[in-house]
Parts: sequence; C-alpha cells; structure tokens
Amino acid sequence: MIKVEGLTKRYARHVAVKNISFEVGKGEIVGFLGKNGAGKTTTMRVLTCFLPPTAGKATVAGFDVLEQPHDVKKNIGYLPETPPVYPEMGISEYLTFVAKLKGIPNGEIAKRVDEVCERTAIGDVKNKIIGKLSKGYRQRVGIAQAIIHNPPVLILDEPTSGLDPEQQLHVRELIASLSGDHTIILSTHILSEVEQSCSNVIIINNGEIVAVDSVAALHKRGRSTESVGVEVAGALAADVRQCLEQVPGVARVVSRDAREGAVGFEIEGLEHAFIRPELARAIVNAGWNLTELKPLGESLEEIFLDLTRSEKKDTEAVKEGAPVTQ
Ligand SMILES: Nc1ncnc2c1ncn2[C@@H]1O[C@H](COP(=O)(O)OP(=O)(O)OP(=O)(O)O)[C@@H](O)[C@H]1O
Ligand SMILES: [Mg+2]
Repeated sequence: MIKVEGLTKRYARHVAVKNISFEVGKGEIVGFLGKNGAGKTTTMRVLTCFLPPTAGKATVAGFDVLEQPHDVKKNIGYLPETPPVYPEMGISEYLTFVAKLKGIPNGEIAKRVDEVCERTAIGDVKNKIIGKLSKGYRQRVGIAQAIIHNPPVLILDEPTSGLDPEQQLHVRELIASLSGDHTIILSTHILSEVEQSCSNVIIINNGEIVAVDSVAALHKRGRSTESVGVEVAGALAADVRQCLEQVPGVARVVSRDAREGAVGFEIEGLEHAFIRPELARAIVNAGWNLTELKPLGESLEEIFLDLTRSEKKDTEAVKEGAPVTQ
C-alpha cells in the first residue's frame, strides 16, 4: 500500500532523510519510531505530498507522490504534528469545509460529518468553537479531518502527543477501531503505544532506517532461546525448582523475586524449545497455583536505545548523480 524506494530529503545543506526504503502492506498498522530530529515528520510530509523528495521514489496506493499527488491525497488522511484546525471555526463548520475541499459530494457532507464526529467522540461538542477546545479534543478534530473522506491510508504524526492518559487511551482505541480497513503509519515516542497498537515497527535514526520488523520479531532479536518468568503460590521453592528442572526443553532455572506468599523463577529453554505450555501443565498437575507466567525478552525500549545509539556523525551526503527535484 505504501512503497518507499531510496528516498532522500535534503533541506538546504542538511540531509534529513537518507536513501530510505520500506514497504507497508494493506491493513498494517506501523509504528514509526525515532529520536527527535530522526526524520519521521519529514518522511511523512513526503508521503503526503507536502514536500517533494530530493531523490528516490514513494508511492501510496499505487500512485507516485511526485507524479500523481492528487490521487495520493485522495487516498491519504494526514494528521500533522500540529493539527491543521482553524481556532475561530466551529467543529461542524470546519469539518464541512474540509469535506468540501476533499471533494465529498454536497448531498453527503452532513451525513459524513456526523459519522466522523461519532467515530472520534466529538459529537457532544460539535457546535463548539475549535479554539475553545482542550488539546485532546482538538487532536480528535484533527483525526476527524484526516478520516472524513474515508481514505484507505492514514498517516498520523504523534497522534497522542501531549494528551492525558485517558485521552491517549481514547485515541488509541480510535486508531484500533480504524485498523482492518485502513493502512496506518503512526509516529510516536511512547513505546508501549507501539506494542499496543502496531503490528510492525520502522525505526529511523539520523535519517536512516535501522529496523523494519514486526513487534514480536524485534523482541526476539538475537534470541534463539525462550526465557519465561513464573510465579507459583502454595508451594515450597525447592519442590517447584525440582519440578521445573524436569520439564522437557528446560535448560536452566534461576530464582527471582516474587510477591508475598509465592515463589518466583526465571526459566531458560534449550535452543528452539517452546517451553511455556509444558511449564504451565507441570505446575498445575503438581496441584500448585500458577499466579504468573510470562515470556521475558528485551524490552522495546532497550531495543530502541540499542538501535538508535549514535555511532556515526551526520556526514553522509546525498548520492552523486541521483535525480534532484529540489
Ligand atoms: N523545514 C526545515 N528546514 C530545515 N531543516 C529541517 C526542516 N524541517 C526539519 N528539518 C530538520 O530535519 C531533521 C529531521 O526533522 P524531522 O522533523 O523530520 O524529525 P522528527 O523525526 O519528526 O523529529 P521529532 O520527533 O522531534 O518530531 C532535523 O534535523 C530537523 O532539524
Ligand atoms: Mg516530528
């Protein structure tokens, strides 16, 4: 649905995005991660035809951002970092205006405005002036304008930035409700949000892509063995340890902290062994209470920091001879 090939964007002398390539399949929700200044917004602006690429190619729904911007825009809903709302307008008035701009036939506009107001939960305030809304509501209006023409692709630049935890949850639920029939790229600095909302992750660092992977695969990076944390209540630590050590596929059992009244262990499996089901069965068969069983992996935060640790200076120049459009 989105295809980026060798994309470079240079602002005057500064190369913000360097020869990046990635693809996003239909219906995927992709988290776009990177430190401040990594190049996320720049990439999103190119994909949404707000900026022309300096070199390389990007297509959205099969349309080229340089050659067919009109078709790209029809297929894309964009929530920029700062929602493009007019503070002096009422919500309904603004959304009606956007609907007209996006070419929705006059007879359908009122129905469509009502639908997006309901979907983004702003129906109860839709006659309010935008300038008097809280940031969270303004963000929802921003999302409403992005989806009003029901585009198959959504590009959301930090959709939950600056929102309180409850509002973040609402926006996350809204994004989840849009999944399935929409392909979504969202940038964020909240890594738990990526784990909750996204199937895949693209990590960009200093304008270069350092990872394109599923969330699950990122967690497993560099690991061919499974580590599992368990907590068992109503048993003696020595008995539990002995029981766990006998489970097929277990390589090592190490004690770890547990809640009061329980004992905890970290269990490492042999290479390529999937030990969770057998561990659970052994504990339950022994007549103990299994109060926790969870896979232990590197956290997304650790992986992110590892991949974005700056090793090299920003010296790479745009490739000689590449087509330059700006
Ligand atoms: N209009 C511009 N003119 C010149 N340089 C720019 C412009 N916009 C962005 N840059 C530079 O390009 C680089 C990438 O910026 P970009 O806004 O894409 O980063 P980002 O990943 O979105 O960061 P953040 O997480 O802070 O939003 C930065 O070094 C930034 O200073
Ligand atoms: Mg940005």
